Amino acid sequence: MIPHKKRIAVIMGTRPEAIKMSPVVHALKKRSGALETLVISTGQHRQMLDQVLSLFHITPDVDMHIMQPDQTLADLTARVLVDSRKVFAEIKPDLLLVQGDTTTVFAAALAAFYFRIRVGHVEAGLRSHDLYNPFPEELNRRLTSTVTDLYFPPTLLARNNLLQEGMRLEQAVVTGNTVIDALYSLLNRPYSLADSPLKDIPFEGHRVLLVTSHRRESLGEDLAHTCEAIKDLVGRFPDLLVVYPVHLNPNVRGTVYELLANVPRVHLLDPLDYLNFINLMQRSYVILTDSGGVQEEAPSLHKPLLVIRRVTERPEAFEAGLSRVIGNARENIVSEVSRLLTDKEAYQAMSTGANPYGDGHASERIAKAVVNWARKKPALLSEDAQFKPRYIPKRLHAGRPLI
Ligand code: UD1
Ligand code: UDP
Repeated sequence: MIPHKKRIAVIMGTRPEAIKMSPVVHALKKRSGALETLVISTGQHRQMLDQVLSLFHITPDVDMHIMQPDQTLADLTARVLVDSRKVFAEIKPDLLLVQGDTTTVFAAALAAFYFRIRVGHVEAGLRSHDLYNPFPEELNRRLTSTVTDLYFPPTLLARNNLLQEGMRLEQAVVTGNTVIDALYSLLNRPYSLADSPLKDIPFEGHRVLLVTSHRRESLGEDLAHTCEAIKDLVGRFPDLLVVYPVHLNPNVRGTVYELLANVPRVHLLDPLDYLNFINLMQRSYVILTDSGGVQEEAPSLHKPLLVIRRVTERPEAFEAGLSRVIGNARENIVSEVSRLLTDKEAYQAMSTGANPYGDGHASERIAKAVVNWARKKPALLSEDAQFKPRYIPKRLHAGRPLI
């Protein structure tokens, strides 16, 4: 009798999930002899998700069309939970793969738990240890961990966080972050600046400060402080050009366009597709962001990174000296960016170093582990084959067990 192929459902809803799950989908589909792979989109983000999926040539098998303008967290959670029930009842996956920390991730994982569908969590174990920062992502991650069967922490630090919470880590593989796979897969794609949305930006003779900011906990005052700091900086440095692709969340756009539209040398753009965004990162001098994914990508492009958050669940880059977590105070943002624009040594120190987040092989590790799980192998992936960064976080040296 031909054994039943395990059916793997990969669910995604937002831009970062699509970027980080696309290489995983391709790696799973390469193993079609062992697995059947289906893609579910909740459509939590409509335009920003579709931008990524078309770039990676992925067409979801199911689209739940969840997004509503200015959606509240409660409504969003309820819609994903209820509608996942209908989808799971129909396609009956053996394993649901979720990625990261969004409401799609938590609500879909909970729905899978109710159906007794196994859950695999890609990018498991990141913790800021502050429930309100990032909000609601820290809670989404913690809740997802409790219903997870297969853990895919990207780094040793993430694995250690899970260990300290008492998770069953015989079902864990340290993978590296799949965002580095996505980044590498596009770095050599042909690109024409002249045909791009960046074509009117006068890069020549300017240094570019790339800005992204969209976190819910920063909406309102903190985001306004960031915008005021940007105005101060272009006033202070005549060769500075600020390029800010603005997230489609209306609460972000309202503040940013009110304070920065028509400021000379500040270019506000619509969200860029990932290929254009990578090119913009490469052309930038310094990156100022509250994004999770951008924190992980910047070290691969050797760009100094300033994180406009109070805490981060991705401390590896600052522990390696490649980023600084600077909060949201206007004066602080101005002084930290100014330092990098004027102090060559400080700049140099933050722009060299190996990426602590990944090596471009994370998706392969995940796909191999899923096949091993499907074949009921005792180990998901040998210790040797797991991700080993060249840099080991200091806090792991500092006496915490590395199992
Ligand atoms: C979501 C995630 C956050 C992630 C971020 C990545 C949650 C609670 N938040 O935040 O973890 O870091 O995505 O970008 O899951 N909108 C559009 N078109 C789009 C996308 C968004 O119009 O393609 C607008 C809609 O009005 C929507 C609003 O943005 O209601 C907010 O979107 P939502 O997914 O609820 O939260 P984000 O702030 O984008
Ligand atoms: N990104 C993009 N276009 C943009 C801004 C960001 O493709 O205009 C990419 C970025 O390179 C990263 C991801 O989107 O891979 C991060 O998404 P976001 O900041 O929305 O979410 P977070 O990572 O904070 O959850």
